[in-house]
Amino acid sequence: MSLTDRWTGQLEELRRLGRFRGLTPPRGIDFSSNDYLGYRNLPLPPEAELPRTGTASRLLRGHHVVWDEVESKLAQWHGAEAALMFSSGYTANEGLLSTVIEPGDCVASDEFNHASIIDGLKLAKAERFIFRHNDLNHLEEGLREASQARPPQRQLFLVTESLYGMEGDFVAPEIAGLVKKYEVNWIVDEAHTTGCLGRTGAGFVDHKGWRDQVLATVHTGGKALGVHGAYVACSRLLRDILVNRCRHFIFTTALPPRVGTWWLDVLGWVEADKLARRKIHENASHFHAALERHGVKSSARSYIVSIVLGEDASATNAAKALQEAGFDIRAIRPPTVPEGTARLRVSIHADHDDQTLDSAAEAIGRVLHP
Ligand SMILES: Cc1ncc(COP(=O)(O)O)c(C=O)c1O
Repeated sequence: MSLTDRWTGQLEELRRLGRFRGLTPPRGIDFSSNDYLGYRNLPLPPEAELPRTGTASRLLRGHHVVWDEVESKLAQWHGAEAALMFSSGYTANEGLLSTVIEPGDCVASDEFNHASIIDGLKLAKAERFIFRHNDLNHLEEGLREASQARPPQRQLFLVTESLYGMEGDFVAPEIAGLVKKYEVNWIVDEAHTTGCLGRTGAGFVDHKGWRDQVLATVHTGGKALGVHGAYVACSRLLRDILVNRCRHFIFTTALPPRVGTWWLDVLGWVEADKLARRKIHENASHFHAALERHGVKSSARSYIVSIVLGEDASATNAAKALQEAGFDIRAIRPPTVPEGTARLRVSIHADHDDQTLDSAAEAIGRVLHP
């Protein structure tokens, strides 16, 4: 079979299943991007006079001092010893997990963890235990078993998100108790909480006072912070390990210094931006109440609103009708979510006003219950 035949067959199968994907530019009011704080409207920093480093990896000529400043500010923000930038959250997760988790270790991972975590764990080649989403009994079963007769060199890890990007619910806080009880190395992906939770917006781990209980947290700039790139907040020792052993850090070109000045700008802004943080939570409550009035159920009550419809076609048809009504709301289908749980994912932002939230909820109600 030629490659053309193979690929044509694969795409035909996706079309048959109604899962062929194309790229659609933004259209209508934004209820789809992860710009939770509304930072797309922040002015870009003026072009800084930065000496060009030349393109190279951070370990070679690609390291610019602006990154020292960014990383030291990030570490301070999180009350961590250190931070290390990566090109994206995807590579940060893959790189971190495949570096720290070694063959012979055991790792527990929530079934709804992001694809970058799943892929990082595949690269790590350790024993994996996938527990049912936020199910404490199931997780404890796995941790208990993995701890029994554990050779001293075998490390136990746990990977969760803090706010699940497709469900809109937070990690069960009782998990922190299990982490202590079983002496687990806990890694938390804060992609959807960075900027949005905690007194200064440092995230859910900060909000809960869990910094001392986690091995590392992973944060992306590509969501609420509205920039590019991502980072790991961790100990100095772990940062040195990553700089020396993490292939996703070593063998890639550094982000341009200008992106570093953008980070400094955003960090200067976000810590003090209590108003936007308060607004996203108020707006989320307002929207959930409006949905309820229109008889629409969502899976959780955060600023990520997940309305599970079941069949792929139900979600894609509903999204299409909402887009035609002027709202950029997208359908999320398998394999991003489990089979039979296709859904609408609505993202609430700090700069949505009450009238926009009400009209979006009304449109969803009308489309789902005509
Ligand atoms: C939970 C989670 N982790 C990691 C990522 C990847 O981050 P980035 O978009 O910066 O690659 C995403 C983004 O989709 C995410 O939702």
